[in-house]
Amino acid sequence: MTKLVGKVMWVVGASGAIGEGIARQLLDQGATVVASSRSIETKGPAIEGADLLNVDVSSMEAAIAAADEIVRRHGRLDGLVVTTTLPIFGDFLDLTDEDWGAVLGTKLMGSVRLTRAVVPHMAQSGGGSVVLLSGGGGKNPSLRHLPGSVANAGVNLLAQGLAKRFGPDKIRVNVVAPGPIESPRLEAIKKAKGPSVFTALGGAGQVEDVSEAVAFLLSEKAKYISGANISVDGGGRLADPA
Ligand SMILES: NC(=O)c1ccc[n+]([C@@H]2O[C@H](COP(=O)([O-])OP(=O)(O)OC[C@H]3O[C@@H](n4cnc5c(N)ncnc54)[C@H](OP(=O)(O)O)[C@@H]3O)[C@@H](O)[C@H]2O)c1
Repeated sequence: MTKLVGKVMWVVGASGAIGEGIARQLLDQGATVVASSRSIETKGPAIEGADLLNVDVSSMEAAIAAADEIVRRHGRLDGLVVTTTLPIFGDFLDLTDEDWGAVLGTKLMGSVRLTRAVVPHMAQSGGGSVVLLSGGGGKNPSLRHLPGSVANAGVNLLAQGLAKRFGPDKIRVNVVAPGPIESPRLEAIKKAKGPSVFTALGGAGQVEDVSEAVAFLLSEKAKYISGANISVDGGGRLADPA
């Protein structure tokens, strides 16, 4: 698989299950991969072949400094993938302002800041591809994870706006919205929402189901796709069978 040879891809949230899987998939497809989270350089998974770079997406300055550093190290920046999120679950009446601010700041504003940081570099080199991760809650809210659902809805709309804003610069912006995917996060979701996972296609999906979709959107095979929202959710979550 050599679809991404010569491309420099930045995966943020790469210490998480899905981000790590995406980083590995992009490496398999020949890309140069920069893998980031707040502490991936010291505490993250060993992703052989990836360039590790700490970044905290709650800071615009940190996002800009990291994007500049990637271009300094690798000469260009062709793709950005944002998978940042926080495992904050609970009933609406129990969640605090800080909980809401942390989730929206990490996922929605993280996507805003990182995209602002990369588009000047992409525009300068003739284009690029951004893939933002949202989730099924962005269309069908999860009552135990309303901040995440609201962030997902925001990410969905953000991508549509950015696709229009940066299309003239040949920068494509798309969303991949996972449903339940086998991961530590899914275990946390099960604790909050209950253990059963029923989707139209069966149970939960695998990280590879998500990373394949992301790699496709980053590649030239998707050169006429922007503003799209691809659900990787087994056809949608079903209620528990009676
Ligand atoms: N897993 C599922 O079943 C599922 C279902 C629906 C949607 N999704 C979505 O898919 C995406 C990835 O999910 P996942 O399961 O891989 O989540 P995860 O394991 O919780 O990973 C989240 C990542 O975000 C990073 N992060 C958090 N705060 C950050 C910050 N301020 N700056 C930089 N990085 C930060 C974490 O790393 P550090 O803590 O090291 O910074 C970690 O790498 C998320 O958008 C999630 O909502 C997942």
